[in-house]
Amino acid sequence: MDFRLRRPAERNVYQFTLTAPKGPRYRAPMHPRFPFPSYPTGWYVVAFSHELARGEVRTVTYFGQDIVLFRTEAGVASAVDKVCPHLGAHLGGGRVAGECIRCPFHDWAFDVHGTCVDVPYAPKIPAKARVRAWTVDERHGLVFVWFSHDGREPGWRVPDLDFEGWTANRTIRWEVASHPQEVGENTVDCSHLLPVHHVTRTDIASVEQTGHTMRVVLNLLATGAAIQMPEEVNEVELDVTLHGLGQIISRTHVITAGLRTRQRIHPTPIGPDRIAIFAVANTREMPDPDYTAEIDQIFWDAFVEDFAKDFPIWGNKVWLEKPLLAGGDGPIGRYRKWCRQFYAWPESSADNTEPVAATEPAAAGRANRAAGPLQSFATRLAGLADRFGGVPAVFAPITSRLGGLAGIRTPPPPARADEELDAHLAEGPVRPAAAPLSVPKPATRFDSVQAYFDGLEKRFDSRAGAQIDAVFQWVLRGSPDQLHYAEVRRGVIKQGTGRHASPTITVEMSEADYLLMINGELNGARAFSTGRGKLKGPVTLAMKMQRLFPIDGVNAGG
Ligand code: FES
Ligand SMILES: [Fe+2]
Repeated sequence: MDFRLRRPAERNVYQFTLTAPKGPRYRAPMHPRFPFPSYPTGWYVVAFSHELARGEVRTVTYFGQDIVLFRTEAGVASAVDKVCPHLGAHLGGGRVAGECIRCPFHDWAFDVHGTCVDVPYAPKIPAKARVRAWTVDERHGLVFVWFSHDGREPGWRVPDLDFEGWTANRTIRWEVASHPQEVGENTVDCSHLLPVHHVTRTDIASVEQTGHTMRVVLNLLATGAAIQMPEEVNEVELDVTLHGLGQIISRTHVITAGLRTRQRIHPTPIGPDRIAIFAVANTREMPDPDYTAEIDQIFWDAFVEDFAKDFPIWGNKVWLEKPLLAGGDGPIGRYRKWCRQFYAWPESSADNTEPVAATEPAAAGRANRAAGPLQSFATRLAGLADRFGGVPAVFAPITSRLGGLAGIRTPPPPARADEELDAHLAEGPVRPAAAPLSVPKPATRFDSVQAYFDGLEKRFDSRAGAQIDAVFQWVLRGSPDQLHYAEVRRGVIKQGTGRHASPTITVEMSEADYLLMINGELNGARAFSTGRGKLKGPVTLAMKMQRLFPIDGVNAGG
């Protein structure tokens, strides 16, 4: 066996090459921050579909290497390695011709399978003329490639999604100093939801793991802080399914408001310690297309702002093998155990403890013949750790540092240790679940819609309306119809009955439903999302009405 330390391509990133007596070379890049390989097996997004036009060639960098994407003239998305087998030109400089990519140097043509199909000047195509083609699946506006350490065929398919009745894709791509496993861990990290995402309460409804999928359903009480309505409390069901570590499908049902949104979050490793996150969102359509469009925008703005709040934390945190968990934390150990299947662990190890040589059984075992004194010192320390069940605390920083330098590290704890992490689950949530999740209702009750409008000017909050210049119109169907309006001009209100000539926003619904709404028995957003009420005008302005015309704390005359 040959063991060589490679020069770092970037600071603090080392990789080593094991060459087994038989079989291909296997490189296992790892970063000192994480005791597992940088590139887990699975499907990963490498581009949005709209980024790759017909006839376009585009080079992207993922898994520490250039991947040349091209879309044929018939529209098939394809991905190949960068090096032309002829004389080594970068295929990213090539062009699409028909259903092939042609090399920029001598014009050899390769089809979507990587097979050379034309050498323009030669009578015969060399038998081995091919470039490695990645397995590609383009779905739902995303170009996926399958990554595995050992060229294994895809272990599962990219899941199908229902698009009937959903708004068009909205997309964004971020880059973060992290690892895909860290993104997924966020879905089971229940206790970060309050400080980071305005969730005031979390109950785990279910956790299921089946093969490459893991599904977590959470019941939440979330404030409307992300949509500038901090006083609003919503009952939310968050249903998240992971398909490997490259696909997270999150379905959010705001039960109180009858709204549904879906986010697809796709972390893809760029290199060790750096990932791209491709995100796509859709909103469930509602009877009123204008209302749908506005809610879609509000959800999107909230998602983009809220999701990114994790990034500085992920970028600076340390991955602890033995985190100190407490009651209220989620099933983090269970998640970590599930993640192990996506790495190259040795088949010979019952506990799956060694990430180094799993894809090459011939090379399995400790990399204990490391060349050079630095590596052998690190290896001996790792061996000691194995014998004595852990590294003495005094040596831990040394082994961690040397392990990173030599491409060797102390093996992660066995899978059973992941399960032991979850002992805290028996302690229950942070706040005892004494009462079922519920949204508070206003204390004040109105006997009639007329009573609501009789006190409107008195209840008007001039500070909340200081920056507002708008006309609010109510059209409440009954016998007879109730028509009211309120002109709000920079903190001053002028109320009237009838129809205003130029309302900024109009609320239309039955008088009976409006009475239910102001008494907290019908959620306003739900009324509009189900078509029970109609809103003409900007939803963002409607969202301010509760603050402009507060209900609680006054004598409503009821
Ligand atoms: S190097 Fe690609 S065709 Fe010659
Ligand atoms: Fe988060």
